[in-house]
Amino acid sequence: MFEKLKQRWNVNGLQLTIVILTFATGGSLTGYVGKKLMGLLPISNGVLWTIIYIIVITIIWPVIILAVSVLTGQFRFFLNYVHKIGVRLRLIKPGIDKMKDTKDLKRIAIFASGAGSNAQKIINHFRNSDSVNIALIACNKPGAGVLNIADKENIPVLRIEKEKFFRGNAYTDELKQQNIDWIILAGFLWKIPELLIRSFPQKIINIHPALLPNYGGKGMYGQKVHEAVLANKEEESGITIHYVDNLYDHGKIIFQAKCPVLHNDTAESLAQRIHGLEHQHFPLIIEQLVTYK
Ligand code: GRF
Repeated sequence: MFEKLKQRWNVNGLQLTIVILTFATGGSLTGYVGKKLMGLLPISNGVLWTIIYIIVITIIWPVIILAVSVLTGQFRFFLNYVHKIGVRLRLIKPGIDKMKDTKDLKRIAIFASGAGSNAQKIINHFRNSDSVNIALIACNKPGAGVLNIADKENIPVLRIEKEKFFRGNAYTDELKQQNIDWIILAGFLWKIPELLIRSFPQKIINIHPALLPNYGGKGMYGQKVHEAVLANKEEESGITIHYVDNLYDHGKIIFQAKCPVLHNDTAESLAQRIHGLEHQHFPLIIEQLVTYK
């Protein structure tokens, strides 16, 4: 349960403990202050008292929890938390992100057409970020798992159609209109059209599940990569994060990490190990690039 909370809120163990303590302290204080305020009213215990008490604590809880969070150093977390509840209850408009956007917030579009496990890790990593916003998920495959993630995470989806992508404007206008700064390919199999590459120079990066320049190029994706690595009896494989240029899996390499290939590996077991490496490194490399470039 705690692991799930850590992932959901994108916090480490220490921060999770502080957040839970903040909730507990804020909750107790809310009850205490609520009762004191009720003591000022000329009403005795009963149904009306209970209704008013619930209204009072609902109103004062956000104020008290935010005040406590200042003391525990978790103001940013709780501001986001309270804001999300407000948006869900339709009490406030989704404005915090817009406020951040006007500052130096870098807006990322993730292009994906598979299960989206990398997309999910990236979203988790930047959930409470005040410098990066996962603004869009672009997807060309109806029914792809990543679309469920976008839905669950409330992230707008840009549906990519072949004709428009390759023979139209490659969705450049739509991405520019959304003020996208970076495009992250996380399991997007189509070649990126030149128009899009020129519109986002050195701002499109891809992750490949092998050590490029080996095992890349047209048709080298998914299990095929791992099958080829196993067929050649390689002793190690890994991941490559690179800029996207006009050729498949070819642009300048930004980062690589290696892992062993075991003698009893199958394409599936190797894929799992590689996915682990991707999840560990991709969000951090994106953060370094996007925040410092
Ligand atoms: C990853 O292995 C990535 O290297 C490749 O596509 C896969 C996407 O996996 N480009 P997921 O959809 O993120 O789980």
